[in-house]
Amino acid sequence: MRELAGKTAFVTGGASGIGLALGRAFAQAGMKVMLADIEATALQAAVKSLQEFAPNVRGTVCDVADAASVDQAAKMSFEAFGNVHVVCNNAGVAAGGGIDDISLDNWRWVLDVNLMGVLHGIRAFLPHIREHGEGGHIVNTASMAGMLTGLGFSPYGASKFAVVNMSEGLALRLRPLGIGVSVLCPSFVRTRIGESGRNRLERYGQSRPLDPNSASAALVAEIGRRIEAGLEPADVAAKVLAAIRDDELYVFTHPGMRAEVEQRFAAILAAMDKVR
Ligand SMILES: NC(=O)c1ccc[n+]([C@@H]2O[C@H](COP(=O)([O-])OP(=O)(O)OC[C@H]3O[C@@H](n4cnc5c(N)ncnc54)[C@H](O)[C@@H]3O)[C@@H](O)[C@H]2O)c1
Repeated sequence: MRELAGKTAFVTGGASGIGLALGRAFAQAGMKVMLADIEATALQAAVKSLQEFAPNVRGTVCDVADAASVDQAAKMSFEAFGNVHVVCNNAGVAAGGGIDDISLDNWRWVLDVNLMGVLHGIRAFLPHIREHGEGGHIVNTASMAGMLTGLGFSPYGASKFAVVNMSEGLALRLRPLGIGVSVLCPSFVRTRIGESGRNRLERYGQSRPLDPNSASAALVAEIGRRIEAGLEPADVAAKVLAAIRDDELYVFTHPGMRAEVEQRFAAILAAMDKVR
């Protein structure tokens, strides 16, 4: 979709990090923007910060894990701005992992938000985009954790692999209809993802504290350091806007990870080559 000015974007997880940077970049590009997020206070502040230079920015509180809540957020968007063209299914949380304490609550929470949340966004907006016929673009936020298994046994990695697969499949189906799809696969970005527990609803139970001497605790600490030293969200958002304009499926932000991707596919191809 070459021309963004005057069009409308909907962004989940829009109150913080990558989602807020996307909202800002869309507003700077002259788009109308609906930010959707579960965290009401942060959302209000985010909307206010963008309204300082872009009057056509609104917010709606929304839990992406709940299909009805996403439908309601879509309705609010249509009422505020009419047709929606760009949909960023970006909200996500990180939790859990390890083989010593496999928590169903962690798995359900991460899959509900990171995987079902993306599906709910597609379900709420795709029929609308197909119907208005003005073109559109769906951006699903995955991660390099959707390309590589560096996190080991983890609901986060499982959810992100699924988002990559969904996006690739959707792109195949939507290309003939003139609707673009991108899957965003960043490595570490300086956001509040490490504090995801702030938005964990009661139905997913409490997250159990890690044994400070465990391998899992060491991994979480290392991830926290790498997030702190990560890319700025605005740099990620700029790459997403370029991908929408150029209709690119994959959005990578960390070229240094090429060797790891190559290693994974080399192992897969080597195994296939053994089959006679
Ligand atoms: N930060 C990184 O290093 C990194 C790397 C790769 C991918 N990602 C992905 O980027 C996306 C954005 O995360 P971020 O890094 O900006 O983190 P963040 O915590 O700064 O922002 C995430 C936003 O999602 C919202 N959210 C959480 N649960 C929600 C729910 N159920 N419904 C609606 N909103 C909800 C939060 O309130 C928050 O505003 C996520 O999908 C994450 O997995 C992040």
